[in-house]
Amino acid sequence: MLFASQAVAAETPLYLDEDAPIEKRVEDALSRMTLREKVAMCHAEGKFASAGVPRLGIPDLWMSDGPHGVRAEINWNDWGYAGHTNDSITAFPALTALAATWNPELSEAYGNAIGEEALYREKDMMLGPGVNIYRTPLNGRNFEYMGEDPFLAGELVVPYIKGMQRNGVSACVKHYALNNQEVWRGHINVELSDRALHEIYLPAFKKAIIDGGSWSIMGSYNKVRGQHACHNELLLNKILKNDWGFDGVVVTDWGGAHDTREAALYGLDLEMGSYTNGLTSESEFTTDHYYLANPYIEMLQKGEVPMSTLDDKVRRLLRLNFRTAMNRRKPFGSVATPAHYDVAEKIGNEAVVLLKNAPAVPKGQPLLPIDPSKYSSILIVGDNATRNLMAGGGSSELKVKDNVTPLAGLEALYPGKIKYTQGYAAGRPMYGHADNIPAATQDSLRSRAVQMAREAGLVIMIGGLNKNHYQDCEGGDRLEYPLPFGQPALIDELRAANPNLVVVLLTGNAVEMPWADKVPAIVQGWYLGSMAGKSIANVLSGTVNPSGKLPFSFPRRLEDNAAHHFGTISYPGDSINQEYREDILVGYRWHDTKKIPALYPFGHGLSYTTFEYGKPTASAKTMGADGSITVKVPVSNTGSREGKETVQFYIGDEKSSLLRPLKELKGFDKLTIKPGDTAEATFTITPEALKFYDPASSSWVVEPGKFKLYIGSSSTDIRATLPFEYK
Ligand code: BGC
Repeated sequence: MLFASQAVAAETPLYLDEDAPIEKRVEDALSRMTLREKVAMCHAEGKFASAGVPRLGIPDLWMSDGPHGVRAEINWNDWGYAGHTNDSITAFPALTALAATWNPELSEAYGNAIGEEALYREKDMMLGPGVNIYRTPLNGRNFEYMGEDPFLAGELVVPYIKGMQRNGVSACVKHYALNNQEVWRGHINVELSDRALHEIYLPAFKKAIIDGGSWSIMGSYNKVRGQHACHNELLLNKILKNDWGFDGVVVTDWGGAHDTREAALYGLDLEMGSYTNGLTSESEFTTDHYYLANPYIEMLQKGEVPMSTLDDKVRRLLRLNFRTAMNRRKPFGSVATPAHYDVAEKIGNEAVVLLKNAPAVPKGQPLLPIDPSKYSSILIVGDNATRNLMAGGGSSELKVKDNVTPLAGLEALYPGKIKYTQGYAAGRPMYGHADNIPAATQDSLRSRAVQMAREAGLVIMIGGLNKNHYQDCEGGDRLEYPLPFGQPALIDELRAANPNLVVVLLTGNAVEMPWADKVPAIVQGWYLGSMAGKSIANVLSGTVNPSGKLPFSFPRRLEDNAAHHFGTISYPGDSINQEYREDILVGYRWHDTKKIPALYPFGHGLSYTTFEYGKPTASAKTMGADGSITVKVPVSNTGSREGKETVQFYIGDEKSSLLRPLKELKGFDKLTIKPGDTAEATFTITPEALKFYDPASSSWVVEPGKFKLYIGSSSTDIRATLPFEYK
């Protein structure tokens, strides 16, 4: 005879037992499901939800964009905002800004904080982070990614994922792969070499999956070698699931599925947003018509695709569900807390890049940090000083609870000293409308600003791009490289009116700066979210010593960028196909190897103090397959303020059977050094860091011979080199 408690225990299904191994739970749940229940899990049931198994008590899966905060609630089945009053959140700095910190600890804090906000909003999966490589400064979505270098992006994406998933919230790394432009994003077919694929465009995704352990990944809209990326034999079945051993869920981008048979066979697990453009257009069909809904049931029943394809998808979806929605041990989460604002501000503080800091007049002091005692008034000019830069931009748009604008940040620091004028108009973020402000409006705003600049002690222009369509915004690329809205002329005239001019650029992209030689101080301030104004004021005032370094190159002219060098077939393609003709020479790899200097190179960023690099020491001069060389370099703070310096380690192969870039980033060490102190940066060279992808053998190889380690404060400011040999 059974006691009551034993009877209950015996009846508890294995899949509900959180102490049982997850694979056993998955098999148990799968064995209880009908065909229709299984297929229902493989596609959306609302804009941002997919079905669980109600009969078995398995909950739905709820998702949200991503990647800089939890997006406001969207209607169940259209793109309108639901109008809730409890969905305001913290906006964290955009991912380009995170990349500019070169600080993995901050990335972990970012992932954790956003995971906590997702929990509060009852989300199981966040649609981010994005690690598409920065290929052209025109890409409208670069601000959502982590720059041009696969090593840097990989080092920063891993802690973000771990920090987030610790909360029982899945990351969904996107957009896999080769979605490096918004023009024709839904269909452009990317052709590229195996080397470019494996050396440049895949490594950050690979780290996200293998080292970060991301539970899901989003396929991209574009085609790759003739097949849509969301059902792509090479990218999904071979590389992701076979070679990298991914056990999570492949989600389409919204509307990225195009064919039932391919979706069944080529690696897709969850179909979302079909028959829409992912942004504005709506479907007239219900989700039953999705490729992985009724049409899939039909094909399965006719035996046209094997049942095993369905079971594989459902196993993955159940695994994801147990890790997130069904995880009853996860915390409750929190939103817009002082702790989250603190994380946002700290990231902002380390993200801001001081591009240039010269005196306004010969023999004067550099303009920054601001010395308020010198000026009776400080004039702030620019639309971005007051604009809500979280509005617009596409799916990463955020509804913030609090927002400190740069103007508010500076007014708080210098009460009574600050004056403001807009300087230029930029219009509202709206799809389908390139900004079209009448010239007369711009002229009068500019004249007023120039007039006020003449009377001010110091002028700080806070401009850049914004989140309007055709600026830093999804669904279109920028139409031109220069600053928009008449800003180049405004900068020229402000400079003529007042030599004490600081230009702060809030952008997610490089811009043309023909005025750079004339302007004494230039700051790259990104999109820094809720605490943007604080971080910018912190750096301009010297409360924080800047330590950000560029995660991508700023070419002098657009033609100096590798993708643009090869004409329209390389960017944006002929509307059907596109060839990545620059191959592996992306970003600084191109500028370095082809000797086309960038205006501001990858890794560049100044400080208010000075750092001197000492002589590096190496544990050996040669290494073999099992060996390694540890390099140490002393760095002294020779100025009068505490500062942080990111010591960058690049490796170049002196002679190779295939073309290699002059050098590639393989390590970095961010040091905090007090004035007068010396700290030591460390880097260990391993054979992994010397390898290239050999297309003949489809594997990573290292060739014996001479290599050189470059130790620098940027990719061009090399302070020491160390030759070594691989035998
Ligand atoms: C974007 C994705 C986003 C999805 C859901 C698509 O338009 O490309 O990044 O996660 O919409 O909003």
